[in-house]
Amino acid sequence: MTAMHEVRWGIIGTGGIATAFVTDLLGTGHTVTAVASRSAEKASAFAATHGIPTSFGSYEELAASADVDAVYVATPHSRHRDDAMLAIQAGKAVLVEKAFTQNGRQARELADAAEAKGVFAMEAMWTRFLPHMRALRQRILDGAIGEVRTVIADHNQLLSTDPKHRIRNPELAGGALLDLGIYPLSFAVDVLGLPTAIRAVGTMTDTGVDRQTSVVMSHPGAALSLTQSALDQPGPNTALVIGSTGYIEIDAVWYTPTSFTVFDTERHVVERFEQATEYRGMQFQADEVERCIAAGITSSDIMPLRESVAIMEALDEVRAQLGFVLPGD
Ligand SMILES: NC(=O)c1ccc[n+]([C@@H]2O[C@H](COP(=O)([O-])OP(=O)(O)OC[C@H]3O[C@@H](n4cnc5c(N)ncnc54)[C@H](OP(=O)(O)O)[C@@H]3O)[C@@H](O)[C@H]2O)c1
Repeated sequence: MTAMHEVRWGIIGTGGIATAFVTDLLGTGHTVTAVASRSAEKASAFAATHGIPTSFGSYEELAASADVDAVYVATPHSRHRDDAMLAIQAGKAVLVEKAFTQNGRQARELADAAEAKGVFAMEAMWTRFLPHMRALRQRILDGAIGEVRTVIADHNQLLSTDPKHRIRNPELAGGALLDLGIYPLSFAVDVLGLPTAIRAVGTMTDTGVDRQTSVVMSHPGAALSLTQSALDQPGPNTALVIGSTGYIEIDAVWYTPTSFTVFDTERHVVERFEQATEYRGMQFQADEVERCIAAGITSSDIMPLRESVAIMEALDEVRAQLGFVLPGD
C-alpha cells in the first residue's frame, strides 16, 4: 500500500473542500476508498457522486476501517482536534485541513499524539506544495533576490453573510484569521522563519469572530512580514517577497496555482515563472503525504508538524491581542 498513489484515502466530512480534494485526487490518479459523514445518507450520496466504494455514517467507523491508510479531515476548525485524533489513535496517517486546529493547545495535543503513535500528520497547507511555491523557495535559496528581508501578502474574500455559516460562527471557530489570514502568515513563516515578535490589530463581526485582521511580525535576521485578511471584501490577493538585490511578485491568486516575476534592483524583469497545473492543485499535498508514508517519515519537511503547532501558537497571540476568544479555547 505504500507505493505512490496506492495509499488509500478516507475522507472525513462532505462539505465544500472535501468535494474539491476528492475531485483533484480522483482526477490525478489517487485512490479514495471511503468517505464518512455524521449522516449515513450524506456519506452515501457523496460516495455515489464520486464513485467512492465505501461510505460510513460516523467518523469513528472510517477511522477504524481496514481499507483506509490516510485520513483527510475536512471539518470546521473547532472539530479538527477530535476528528484528527480518531485517525491518529487508529494508527492512520492524517492530513488535517487548515487551520490545523482551533488553538495552540489543541495543536500540541495532536502533534504529541501523532509522535507517540509514530504516525504521519500534516496540516493541509496546500499552497506550500504548489509548483510556483516550490520554484519560489528555490529562487530564494539560489540568491535570486539577495538577503530576504520582507514579506507582504493578503487574503481577502467575500464569504457568506449568514451568521450561522462556519466562517462567522464562533462555535465552529470561524473568523478571517483562522480561515484566511493563516495563509499569508504561514507563507511569511515559510519564507522568513518563525516570528520573534507579533503585533496585531483587527475588527470583529457582530457574531464575535474577527472580520479583518492585520499582523506585523518580526523574524530572525531583522526580517519583517505584513499580512492582512478579511472575510467580507475583495482584495488583490497578491504576495511580495523583497530582498536586498531584488524582489518577487506573486500574481493573484498567490495561494492558488499561479505565476510570479523576479525583478532586480531597477525593477527590470529577471525571470517570469509560469506553469500550468491540472485541477485545483490540492493533489500536490496528497503527493507529499504519500511520499512521506512510503519513506516512513512522520513529518513533512515542507509543512513540518511542529511548525504547524508554532503557527497555531502565533495565531493564539494574534487573537490575544485582538481580545478574540473562542468557545473551548
Ligand atoms: N484548502 C482550501 O482551499 C480550503 C478551502 C475552504 C475550506 N478549507 C478548510 O476546510 C475545512 C472545511 O471547510 P468547508 O468550507 O469545506 O466547510 P463546509 O462546506 O461547511 O463543510 C464542513 C463539513 O464538516 C462536517 N461537519 C462536522 N461537524 C460540523 C458542524 N458542527 N457544522 C458544520 N459542519 C460540520 C460536515 O460534514 P458531514 O455533515 O458530512 O459530517 C460538513 O460538510 C475548514 O478547516 C476550512 O478552513 C480549506
